[in-house]
Amino acid sequence: MGDKKLKLAVVGLGNCACSLIQGFYYYKAMDGEDINGLMHPDIGGYRPWDIELVAAFDVDERKVGKDVGEAIFAPPNCTAVFYPQVPKLGVEVLMGPVLDGVATHMAEYPLDKRFVVAGKGPVDVKRVLKESGAEVVVNYLPVGSEEAVRFYAQAALEAGCAFVNCMPVFIASNEAWAKRFQEAGLPVVGDDIKSQLGATITHRVLANLFSQRGVALDKTYQVNFGGNTDFLNMLERKRLKTKKISKTEAVQSSLNVPMPSNDIHIGPSDYVPWLKDNKICYIRMEGKLFGDVPMYLELKLSVEDSPNSGGCAIDAIRCAKLALERGIGGPLYSISAYIMKHPPIQYPDHQAREMVDAFIRGERER
Ligand SMILES: NC(=O)c1ccc[n+]([C@@H]2O[C@H](COP(=O)([O-])OP(=O)(O)OC[C@H]3O[C@@H](n4cnc5c(N)ncnc54)[C@H](O)[C@@H]3O)[C@@H](O)[C@H]2O)c1
Repeated sequence: MGDKKLKLAVVGLGNCACSLIQGFYYYKAMDGEDINGLMHPDIGGYRPWDIELVAAFDVDERKVGKDVGEAIFAPPNCTAVFYPQVPKLGVEVLMGPVLDGVATHMAEYPLDKRFVVAGKGPVDVKRVLKESGAEVVVNYLPVGSEEAVRFYAQAALEAGCAFVNCMPVFIASNEAWAKRFQEAGLPVVGDDIKSQLGATITHRVLANLFSQRGVALDKTYQVNFGGNTDFLNMLERKRLKTKKISKTEAVQSSLNVPMPSNDIHIGPSDYVPWLKDNKICYIRMEGKLFGDVPMYLELKLSVEDSPNSGGCAIDAIRCAKLALERGIGGPLYSISAYIMKHPPIQYPDHQAREMVDAFIRGERER
């Protein structure tokens, strides 16, 4: 142990990538002294700092052509800087194909708040992945980038890389894509990352609590807003379809009996620029107690959105590498169920956690 390395490529160097990469260096500097914020300090011999970034793709003119160590702090990224000492990595951010990655409504917003597409042609993504030796590709494209996600998933397949899909274009949970990864002998984890302690996991735990205590859940909503580009992008309602499915199913699947669709409303709701990467979530749950007597619960959650996803991504990436080492291809059911909102198969959270630990110990994945 100790000399293992994992070669990672990142697609979309936005706020989530910024937090994740800061995390590699933050935990390295802590040298095992501070493991706060990690669900698994060690996964099969891989610690957070054993992840080496070897390739990165973006389309923003303030990021493309820069070293990753600089690009992660370029606008419109606005997440907390908890480790400003990230060094230059010697890896240049390369231009990817734009496809449907950039929503047109963004053009109406100030430059420092939105994406600005670089006037460059795209590189050969598959070739870069191969030549860089990337083993795992993590996808952080904006919600609604259907074509772009499929493009990068295909490039990962052809380059022989595992794929970790942190957003809600369905790949691991899409049968045809899952089969392609299975046939290529490559692991895929997805889809749409949960936060470490965010709206989805909190809502799931509470919904499960209602079920366990015999309280009928009649109505619920979960509304979310924030000031990062993820929330700005999601103002375009037609890009939101799969995000709403993913977030709603994550809660529905934790109930004994799913709720009628009219009684459950879950989704991103607005964009408040000054909040930056601070996400606010309000949850209301209305139920009936003993004797059919009504009750309600209201909750406000305030979190820095992107480090919150980093705490999950860091496990997904290392599990993907373990699966590669063990020759396991296709969807990884355990880690997907534990840390993704829309996995191929949903499991209760405590069971998913046990399955992940069993997978890490080397027990059968399926
Ligand atoms: N807690 C969380 O933050 C969280 C949780 C679940 C899911 N997600 C999802 O993860 C994804 C990333 O979130 P984020 O906050 O980092 O978003 P972001 O808007 O900060 O970053 C997206 C990045 O993708 C780049 N991009 C756009 N089109 C591209 C293309 N065609 N090729 C390469 N790069 C392209 C943009 O320039 C930007 O740097 C989003 O889809 C989000 O919904 C985030």
